[in-house]
Amino acid sequence: MDKILYINSCVREKSRTNELARYLLKKLNSDYKEIKLDEEDIKPMDSRLLKERDELRANKNYSNSMFKYANDFKDANIIVISSPYWDLSFSALLKIYFENINIGGLTFGYNEAGKPKTLCNIKKVYYVTTSGGYIISDDYGFGYVKAMFNTFFEVFDINYIKAEGLDIIGSDVDKIIEKAKMEIDNLF
Ligand SMILES: Cc1cc2nc3c(=O)[nH]c(=O)nc-3n(C[C@H](O)[C@H](O)[C@H](O)COP(=O)(O)O)c2cc1C
Repeated sequence: MDKILYINSCVREKSRTNELARYLLKKLNSDYKEIKLDEEDIKPMDSRLLKERDELRANKNYSNSMFKYANDFKDANIIVISSPYWDLSFSALLKIYFENINIGGLTFGYNEAGKPKTLCNIKKVYYVTTSGGYIISDDYGFGYVKAMFNTFFEVFDINYIKAEGLDIIGSDVDKIIEKAKMEIDNLF
């Protein structure tokens, strides 16, 4: 059975993005592991952490707790990511998560031509976002996620679910969310 990993980077209690992601997870109709980034003690790579990480990598000591996110990621076959659209992209929490799972030697390696090759077994990705206004460029948020999965993890089945314009005065929020849910229905 496919192992599903839900990377939840929503922070608001009544997050619309999380609501859509949960609707999607219900459709997947299977158990899943959730990482709620807001409740994790996850750190960006500063000089101290990077040094420590490089030493562990040099010794191939991947059982260290520093690699717990990367090991969960490596174990997954289906990835669901939720992030609100913040500052034309996704949240910094999610970027920090990416820093913690993109580990050369553990989650990806390089072939003889120097091109990245996956060391994971991910088949499918779902990226869910919602925005207050309209998404200016898909390249900054979803585009980044797509490029990352294409390049490091050789995943090309990447689904994009978005609901836009939720904070515009006069918007029919329920209608926009229902439409996004219908788009999710159409994926199954
Ligand atoms: C810190 C922050 C930055 C935001 N940046 C943008 C933005 O650049 N463009 C936009 O359309 N909406 C922006 N928004 C609005 C959110 O994208 C919108 O409210 C979204 O639906 C929040 O998702 P949530 O309900 O899952 O928390 C921002 C909101 C916050 C709190």
